[in-house]
Amino acid sequence: MGAEPLEIHLEQQDLDRGLREDVRVGLTATPKWLPPKWFYDARGSELFEEITRLPEYYPTRAERAVLAAHADDVAATTGAKTLIELGSGSSEKTRLLLDAFTRHGDLGTFVPLDVSVSALRGSTEQIAAAYPGLRVRGIVGDFTRHLDRLPTGGRRLVAFLGGTIGNLLPVERAEFLTAMRAALEAGDWLLVGTDLVKDPAVVVPAYDDAAGVTAEFNRNVLRVINRELGADFDLTAFRHVAVWDPEREWIEMRLRAERPTRARVLDLDVAFAAGEELRTEVSAKFRPEGIAAELRAAGFDRQEFWTDPDGLFGVSLARAD
Ligand code: AVJ
Repeated sequence: MGAEPLEIHLEQQDLDRGLREDVRVGLTATPKWLPPKWFYDARGSELFEEITRLPEYYPTRAERAVLAAHADDVAATTGAKTLIELGSGSSEKTRLLLDAFTRHGDLGTFVPLDVSVSALRGSTEQIAAAYPGLRVRGIVGDFTRHLDRLPTGGRRLVAFLGGTIGNLLPVERAEFLTAMRAALEAGDWLLVGTDLVKDPAVVVPAYDDAAGVTAEFNRNVLRVINRELGADFDLTAFRHVAVWDPEREWIEMRLRAERPTRARVLDLDVAFAAGEELRTEVSAKFRPEGIAAELRAAGFDRQEFWTDPDGLFGVSLARAD
């Protein structure tokens, strides 16, 4: 059984409209900012995969270690019939869960949801081929907007891995978790991966690697805007910057104009002073108790919390109350 055709809840025109709106709001704001979801065109998705293999980028390896150790617990505890993965990307680590469900329960359906059609095409075909008998229904969608479109019926487990929840600002995170709970029934499950607060000397290099892959990934958002909106950003004018914010316990990626530069985008003439920065991503880091409290506030009861042996990354398994 191959993967089913992708269900498109996000048409090209929605994407275009969303990008135009985000660009208009973000590039006319002070300071300027853009949401991180626009990194992930085909090239950006590939660059992110490359990041996950960098020596400095510990989150993927650490989360994989947690899942390798506890995927069987997840399968046994949840007994899920449907596994939904938000922001699934390549779904590479998800295979650890699918393997565990193959050993235990009777998972019938895997539903990866992502904004990237290219990432989903590849992952759904590969997973359908590797897990015969598993129904694979890829959904092209935005996890902040399309939670009401998730399949219903049967015990569900929603996996939100990689620490992607950290890309949401605290208010957005609360809204997301509340919407997530509303989309689920009592007894359904949420598995959420969170990067943990640690020495900035470890975090900063993970977002500013020596090989410059993260810098390319960061600048890719300008390449996407140039191509999709016919803009003329001069990518060579911008330097990649990663800054740890000790109060808010998050890392920010920014693009710093190294000299005065301007771009025509939509009907805007966007000017950057020398040294001016554009924020392109927030990646929050969490404390174990903070995550439990945020889950509780949204109507989830955390039943398990696991970290890798080095305590870098945490995975919470929570039950919808
Ligand atoms: C995919 C959102 C989990 O925040 O660590 C990697 C993206 N940004 N390097 C993260 C990212 C810079 C990543 N997430």
